[in-house]
Amino acid sequence: MCDAANFNMDSMKFNDLKLFVDFLEEHGELIRVEEPLDSKFEVSAAIRHGAKMTDKAILVEKVKGYGFPVVGNLLGTKKRLGLAIGATEEDVVSRLLIKEEDLIPSKTVDKGPVKDIIIRNDIDLFKTLPVLTYHEGDVSPYITQGVVFMKDRESGLETMGVHRLQVKSKNRLGGFFTGKTSSEVIRNAEKRGEALEIAIAIGVDPSTLLASVFWAPFSDKFGIAGAFRGSPLELVQAETVDLKIPANAMFVLEGKIIPGLKETEGPFGESNGYYVTAQNPVIEIAAITHRKNPIYPVFIPWDREDGTILDLLVTPYIHKNIKSVFPSIANIKLFFTAGFAVIQIRKRYESEPRELIYFILSTVPFIKIGRIAHLCGCPQYVVVGLLFF
Ligand SMILES: Cc1cc2nc3c(=O)[nH]c(=O)nc-3n(C[C@H](O)[C@H](O)[C@H](O)COP(=O)(O)O)c2cc1C
Repeated sequence: MCDAANFNMDSMKFNDLKLFVDFLEEHGELIRVEEPLDSKFEVSAAIRHGAKMTDKAILVEKVKGYGFPVVGNLLGTKKRLGLAIGATEEDVVSRLLIKEEDLIPSKTVDKGPVKDIIIRNDIDLFKTLPVLTYHEGDVSPYITQGVVFMKDRESGLETMGVHRLQVKSKNRLGGFFTGKTSSEVIRNAEKRGEALEIAIAIGVDPSTLLASVFWAPFSDKFGIAGAFRGSPLELVQAETVDLKIPANAMFVLEGKIIPGLKETEGPFGESNGYYVTAQNPVIEIAAITHRKNPIYPVFIPWDREDGTILDLLVTPYIHKNIKSVFPSIANIKLFFTAGFAVIQIRKRYESEPRELIYFILSTVPFIKIGRIAHLCGCPQYVVVGLLFF
């Protein structure tokens, strides 16, 4: 059994996804599915149900037609998410609340295993990657754990975030970009009429994955990844685009966002339990690089893992920020995937709940609508309900 108290937590820093997977297996936190399964529905169902039944990470050894295993639910519990950054379950939240001085700058290296195999001709995403189809109503297979790297040529602004990616054809993806930085970088390239270079890393080390979705008041995500790992994130120059990519990733897809083109992307069964379709940018892939024996990681949408990640990576900073302005807050619970939040405050004056709502609406972009949902019986407490998405 994996008992964090028995380890020297500081020695547990994983700069490679495979090391983390091996560690989880050695310590009883991962189980294997030996039966060959189909990438359409079967693999995702096995991971979803296996995770629900056992609470473990699930590794599907054989996907029909592919030579690589697929792994899911790696960070599905607070304990495993803590282990990923060398923290115990008890101190994971405080370890995640890093300060700017904790950031460790990235380092550029000459080569990395992500370049073991380089494919530039006859790109076929369906053949190379065991991309999964998750739900009956999904339009096609989706990449759910792709970390997207882009850079604004003029301002130098860089992105590193997880974005859902529809595999539309052998060499085309549809991307869903709602985040602040990615939207800005895409918008700027669009205004200049330029094709925007993009690199998508799949199978990065767990600290880098967590840094990519981290909610922090500073923007250097490479530095955040370094802080979580306790060592610099190693980056290597991509093959066909002027971007740096994690040297130890399992796969990298390189290409360009086609300027002036938006196409229907979805429907895809999302983390909030609904099918979502949108008009979104199209990415043309020109090269795929990958490790010799990669593992293909996935997020199962609308499952416990994305809830755990959002709860631990996004909530602490929101709490800290809101509480610094409203010390009257007694409790906050953000239910990201269910789409609402409940906040209990010890009201200091009559208009405070309303001011709290306006503050949250203007500082937390996930929240679209706010209202006082319920005044509880006890006169000094107010419960505020906030609706997301
Ligand atoms: C499981 C998971 C899936 C996500 N999918 C998307 C997505 O499809 N589109 C998106 O814009 N953000 C998505 N996010 C959030 C972004 O990765 C995150 O907000 C990131 O910081 C955005 O960076 P950006 O500001 O550069 O866009 C997802 C986060 C998680 C944890």
